[in-house]
Amino acid sequence: MSKKRIVSGMRPTGKMHLGHLHGALLNWKELQHEYECFYFIADWHALTSEYSNPDIIKETTYEIIMDWISMGLDPEICTFFIQSEIKEHAELHLIFSMITPLPWLERNPTYKEQLREVTQRDLYTYGFLGYPVLQAADILMYKANGVPVGEDQAPHVELTREIARRFNHLYSKVFPEPDVLLTPTSKLLGIDRRKMSKSYGNAIFLTDSDQEIDRKVSQMITDPQRKRKTDPGDPAICNVFSFHEIYSEPETVKQIDGACRKAEIGCVECKRMMAASLKKGLQPIREKRRELEADISIVKQIMQEGCQRARKVASRTMEEVREAVKLP
Ligand code: TRP
Ligand code: SF4
Repeated sequence: MSKKRIVSGMRPTGKMHLGHLHGALLNWKELQHEYECFYFIADWHALTSEYSNPDIIKETTYEIIMDWISMGLDPEICTFFIQSEIKEHAELHLIFSMITPLPWLERNPTYKEQLREVTQRDLYTYGFLGYPVLQAADILMYKANGVPVGEDQAPHVELTREIARRFNHLYSKVFPEPDVLLTPTSKLLGIDRRKMSKSYGNAIFLTDSDQEIDRKVSQMITDPQRKRKTDPGDPAICNVFSFHEIYSEPETVKQIDGACRKAEIGCVECKRMMAASLKKGLQPIREKRRELEADISIVKQIMQEGCQRARKVASRTMEEVREAVKLP
């Protein structure tokens, strides 16, 4: 039996950090053995908010792809592509825009939140309102059975299902209704204890050097109740400890848990140990990254092949779509 297919994408607005790694990429890596995976760079989506600064999109696209491969996504079994290289997405987006009722878009919680939160850019554009319509085109183009995303993207997948249903009802049954494959949210926070994000300046990147990791870890906010070294701490609410749980040996984790509660270890020492584990954990990713950087032509080749595979599927889907809507 052939494998089920999944599609997911990321906007190229910065290189990958540990939030991406633990919030999405490790899950993608897990899924690559079970599903036929299409993973892509959503550069048109990035343009909906970064339209006045497109350089960042161009600069980060290949950084992200190298990060993906370095952390273990395998180009032999996954298909990587760049959204804007597959022009069919724009055509499908256009057709979907004809059948998507405005209220579906206006009530979208992610949209409303972004309009409220993002103040440095004007997001009252036609393109930004249509963001989930483009996302539906990304997903349905490949007739995906599933979409691995975080909670914040679940409404977009729901909208995709509604658009698929409406298209199938109005014309003919071309699209399956994809399921959300919810990625559990990562416990790792940024160094200031807010959600890890490039725009908060609190992220640890996969490409950070040892010195940068040491510096960032030393700045991390720990258990905020623990003012002095002689105060007992609570690892359960300490972000440094969450990192230990992932990157340190189980023995060490247990030891720190006890010592922290009894004020037998100071945060400086604890952070030093965590930084060492983290650097060790990221080592294989960095080595692979260096290999790729040494010969970028291999990465370009991988992307060319991925785009070719994606284009083939997209062009077949569009033939069916054009026939369904009775237009050439
Ligand atoms: N909107 C997604 C995000 O910000 C990125 C994205 C674009 C996507 N198209 C997609 C994710 C299709 C899954 C499927 O994370
Ligand atoms: Fe956190 Fe470690 Fe300090 Fe305890 S000792 S509060 S776990 S950094």
